[in-house]
Amino acid sequence: MTDRDFWTTDRIQIAPSILAANLAELGRDIAAVERGGADLIHIDVMDGHFVPNITIGQPVVRAIKRIATRPLDVHLMIEQPDRYLDDFVNAGADMLSVHVEVTPHLHRTIAHIKSLGVKAGAVLNPSTPVSALVEIASALDFVLVMSVNPGFSGQAFIRHGLDKVRRVREVLTQAGSSARIEIDGGIDAANAVEAVAAGASILVAGNTIFNTSDSEAATRALRSSVDAAARA
Ligand code: DX5
Ligand code: ZN
Repeated sequence: MTDRDFWTTDRIQIAPSILAANLAELGRDIAAVERGGADLIHIDVMDGHFVPNITIGQPVVRAIKRIATRPLDVHLMIEQPDRYLDDFVNAGADMLSVHVEVTPHLHRTIAHIKSLGVKAGAVLNPSTPVSALVEIASALDFVLVMSVNPGFSGQAFIRHGLDKVRRVREVLTQAGSSARIEIDGGIDAANAVEAVAAGASILVAGNTIFNTSDSEAATRALRSSVDAAARA
């Protein structure tokens, strides 16, 4: 599949979150998940303000772009994301998502991301109501539902996220939108199946993939549990 096709596929997409990878061996870890069937590489950008943690910036995204063979899904957990949209696209983002909690002019932000030629997503924290999307739903390429409070890998899945995915799907349908739904936080082989049944088609997983002895096999295992459920 070429990069251009990555958005039109019907397949459930697995997006390993490199926050949980061995950052001193990032090239090796990305190659492993790509061999295991990763569809996207999820990159968590944190600023120490919107979320308590500080992680990755544009130079690292640019470096990953040189070695990754899959599209880069860049999740901005930063205040004032508008200041950095062009930089992250120039660094190699293929999908760029912003949190609705820090984006007062979300319509303009989403339009700007799309004008840069990449897929635009809006992210909801666990406490943010689905209704925040109602007026913007038809403009979105994807919605990212957080199933943990953003900031760290390895947190427990908040099951309320499943019901939220269902309600986001309703809002999108109502708006005539075929936007994808991505779910992020605490995803494992069991809840991944539930998330897909609820309407998610992009699954982010950090801990479940990288905190194992074999991230290639863990990626493949997550893919096969989802595919097996789809066939059942
Ligand atoms: C959380 C990040 C997630 C995180 C996922 O703030 O947005 O992408 O890395 O990691 P796990 O799957 O370990 O919860
Ligand atoms: Zn994320």
